[in-house]
Amino acid sequence: MSNPVGSKSTNIRMRQFKTPRIPPPFAKQVEENLKSVRYKIAVISGKGGVGKSFISAALALALARLEYSVGLLDLDVHGPSIPKITGIRGMRPYAVNGKIEPIPLAENLRVLSLELFLEDYNKPLVWRGPLKSKAITELLYLTNWGSLDYLIFDLPPGTGDEPLSVAQLVPEPRGAIIVTTPSSLAGAVVRKAVEFCIQLDLPVLGIVENMSYFKCPVCGSIHKIFGEGAADEVAKEYGLEVIARIPVHPDLSKALDHGTLPQLILYGDANHEVVKAIIGLAEKIVEKTMHGKGEKTSIPNT
Ligand SMILES: Nc1ncnc2c1ncn2[C@@H]1O[C@H](COP(=O)(O)OP(=O)(O)OP(=O)(O)O)[C@@H](O)[C@H]1O
Ligand SMILES: [Mg+2]
Repeated sequence: MSNPVGSKSTNIRMRQFKTPRIPPPFAKQVEENLKSVRYKIAVISGKGGVGKSFISAALALALARLEYSVGLLDLDVHGPSIPKITGIRGMRPYAVNGKIEPIPLAENLRVLSLELFLEDYNKPLVWRGPLKSKAITELLYLTNWGSLDYLIFDLPPGTGDEPLSVAQLVPEPRGAIIVTTPSSLAGAVVRKAVEFCIQLDLPVLGIVENMSYFKCPVCGSIHKIFGEGAADEVAKEYGLEVIARIPVHPDLSKALDHGTLPQLILYGDANHEVVKAIIGLAEKIVEKTMHGKGEKTSIPNT
């Protein structure tokens, strides 16, 4: 005999994914507002603390370094870290004609985070699902991104409300980048993230293995301090590609702690181990989205 509880819980799970939570008028406004954004890319992970926010920010900076026009939107409601990483903490976005203007980090790179609207960034936002979806919807249709080649979404860990809202609301997302670390525990949760994308029809652009290795600055030897193989294993299983391996690097910890990632990735030495790896990731994304053509959106003179 079939298990009624099992079949019921499966139905509930399916309904959650199939029923759009966003009322059609808002979905239309979001579509209208994002129509000049060519490629929308979500950065996700099955588990916290693997470096999603760093990878989102670094990818946006590297794409800007390659002269694409780029937006970076932090949708981590409970633990936003993009303002700290990019050095814009405490800045206030202003509004023009009823639209929010993201903070400019460079001529061709603008950033927005929910944290920038908080009275006090040390106090947590205590929001449930519907409120989170509403805030995300409003940010998506009220922000003036202008014409962009890439809009990168930094999402909280796991497969909860925020990634679901993005997958359901953002028109034609080009895909997801899944970030993981090399440990086998991370490998098990990265499968969950891949399955999430499959259920939502969100193409996976590739897996990024962060904290992949440490290169000794004295002798140049490579140390795989967090293990190895998990990303490759999941990639092979699902026919995906590991599109970047990013080292652990003390310069990176410093840049992330002091909000100087833009100086490192946007203007730093192109031969720096981390800069090289991140530019390699950006080039891979260009190759996958623009099929090697790499044509750029011209930056309006405003
Ligand atoms: N390659 C790296 N080398 C050195 N430090 C790193 C590296 N990647 C990430 N970190 C550090 O690891 C910590 C977690 O990074 P980050 O905040 O980007 O992760 P996250 O996945 O976005 O976390 P959360 O799940 O909380 O959103 C940060 O303190 C960051 O400075
Ligand atoms: Mg984060």
